[in-house]
Amino acid sequence: MKPQVKPQNPNFSSGPCSKRPGYDINQLDISTLGRSHRSSIGKAALAQSIEKTKALLGIPDDYRVGIVPASDTGAMEMFMWSALGERAVDVFHWESFGSGWLTDIVKQLKLQNVNSYPAPYGELPDFSLANPNHDMVFTWNGTTSGVKVPDGDWISEQRQGLTICDATSAVFAMPMPWEKLDVITFSWQKVLGGEGAHGVLVLSPSAVKRLESYTPPWPLPKIFRMTKGGKLIEGIFKGATINTPSMLCVADYLDALDWVEKIGGVEASIEKSFNNLTVLTNFVESRDWIHFLAKNKNERSNTSVCLTLDATDEQVKALIKLLDDENVAFDIGAYRDAPAGLRIWAGATVESIDLENLLPWLDWAYAQVTK
Ligand SMILES: Cc1ncc(COP(=O)(O)O)c(C=O)c1O
Repeated sequence: MKPQVKPQNPNFSSGPCSKRPGYDINQLDISTLGRSHRSSIGKAALAQSIEKTKALLGIPDDYRVGIVPASDTGAMEMFMWSALGERAVDVFHWESFGSGWLTDIVKQLKLQNVNSYPAPYGELPDFSLANPNHDMVFTWNGTTSGVKVPDGDWISEQRQGLTICDATSAVFAMPMPWEKLDVITFSWQKVLGGEGAHGVLVLSPSAVKRLESYTPPWPLPKIFRMTKGGKLIEGIFKGATINTPSMLCVADYLDALDWVEKIGGVEASIEKSFNNLTVLTNFVESRDWIHFLAKNKNERSNTSVCLTLDATDEQVKALIKLLDDENVAFDIGAYRDAPAGLRIWAGATVESIDLENLLPWLDWAYAQVTK
């Protein structure tokens, strides 16, 4: 039987992700629009974004937080281009974005001393192979395979190399072991449902030390440069951005941060996401035709939930189209490089009730396309 009730919000995309519940663009504080980002109110809004990010996430006091160009990719690439090559690099990757960082390192930066530790979709590589004397590059949550790193216990406290972690679909939805991470990047359009454009770059004191003590042999574009005369440009981490940011995106980010604060902070946004995963888990575990792509339960992402179906690729495509045509679920197809299936965002801006109302439609659509 065709279900009657539709999710009130059918936005289940894995990026840009659903706006927060109750989002209203008219509620944004747009007093900075049309003003210089270096005016006192522009700078204050940028500084407030940084300070609130730090406070809400519990980032250690001696870490720097900066707003940088070009979203999460910009944040990752500016650090890799600025700091890699000083020592060997271990790259752990298990899906498309992590493999993209390996491509940067091997094919663009052309580093020779690189160890690649891959794992197939659905699995994690063996992190026990990490060498604490090497730099390490990895994603926290593999957005395209739905496999996350469960904890940071395997990261050495005595490490000499830097841990460089792309955490864009994890921050605000998963606990982050900040002290184990030297470089953390994320963007606003994921767990917070903010706008795409800018990246957040978080640096430990060791990461800053590297920037101040090492100069890579290749040219650095202006938008990657974080030091001047061998010293960190501290302004970047106080809101004096390298180039012009979108103050509308900043206003939207501040609204998202306010929302996190109002619902009870990052513990609450993490809990919302884990509850969403539970809704999906109960469904998957009570059906025999749908499965998590992630092999191990403790590695299942609670944001980008990737599922495979007992169906042909054509049937999966038809199911996705059917749900889209019914205005029940938008953008839930697996990423183009990943195995065919569904990818349903379960981050904090998605309401559990909307997932609950989606599930009978999945039963119905699966029956339609496989009959
Ligand atoms: C793990 C991961 N890394 C990097 C990116 C690229 O992010 P952006 O478009 O913010 O540069 C994404 C986007 O989905 C991602 O999920």
